[in-house]
Amino acid sequence: MEKRHAGKVAVVTGGAHGIGRAFAVRLASEGADVAVVDINPATQTLDEIRTVGGRAVVFNRDISDPNEVAGLGEDVERAFGRCDILVNNAGIFPSCRFEDLDLAGWRRMMAVNLDSVFLVSKRFVPAMRERRWGRVINMASNSFGQVAPGLTHYIASKGGVIGFTRALASELGAEGITVNAIAPGFTRTEGTLAREPNFRGLTSEQLYGILAERQAIPRAPTPEDMAGVLSFLASSDADLITAQTFYVDGGLVRAS
Ligand SMILES: NC(=O)c1ccc[n+]([C@@H]2O[C@H](COP(=O)([O-])OP(=O)(O)OC[C@H]3O[C@@H](n4cnc5c(N)ncnc54)[C@H](O)[C@@H]3O)[C@@H](O)[C@H]2O)c1
Repeated sequence: MEKRHAGKVAVVTGGAHGIGRAFAVRLASEGADVAVVDINPATQTLDEIRTVGGRAVVFNRDISDPNEVAGLGEDVERAFGRCDILVNNAGIFPSCRFEDLDLAGWRRMMAVNLDSVFLVSKRFVPAMRERRWGRVINMASNSFGQVAPGLTHYIASKGGVIGFTRALASELGAEGITVNAIAPGFTRTEGTLAREPNFRGLTSEQLYGILAERQAIPRAPTPEDMAGVLSFLASSDADLITAQTFYVDGGLVRAS
């Protein structure tokens, strides 16, 4: 594979599973040194990166915790010196209807999906500014454009990510840093496979197929589909692209 990210250091949050694992493996296979950050062990990610001949270190951290993020910054800089490509991917998506949602559930969602994006960006962006080069890529969701019941807290958090992306891009563009978001469709990952069948009683296996049939391109999205877009956004081919949210959902939101 072309080493388009050679000499770069990437930090991928939520890199143990699903889309984050595909991101970490793709960036490493294209030459980046990768800091894989996750609250869970990331053995499979590390194995896959070694298989493609890449370099990575795993940091077990809860990225919703400000103290753990501060320590993470120091550890990444000790291991690799800096962060050039920041991928704010970690997220949770327990569904809960509004009448059952309490403040603790709302706050947990915001802490993991939105506070973490602020905290981790706050930690790594200043050094990008000094070097006048950087990439920040945040994970949104196509559910912001294709809403469903039981997701008020989730969709609010991802709406926050989209707003944060645009606003931060406007502050950093003149300093060589781009900020973009990826909004996946319903993608086969450990996270979606583990979800309860509580949206109209449908299992994830059923939902992959039902949603795919409604897409302009009728197949379920994969983590590798997301990784291709991520690699492009992280590369110099995307130098003039910022403040965007890319829907990678076979056209479900934009063409249905
Ligand atoms: N899979 C989809 O259909 C889909 C659709 C739209 C958006 N997304 C978004 O893409 C991202 C990845 O989703 P996925 O399906 O790969 O999820 P996943 O559950 O398979 O993986 C998420 C990873 O994040 C980690 N994580 C969770 N909380 C953490 C914390 N506090 N600190 C550190 N790590 C933490 C988990 O351990 C896990 O490894 C999420 O932000 C999600 O909202 C996914």
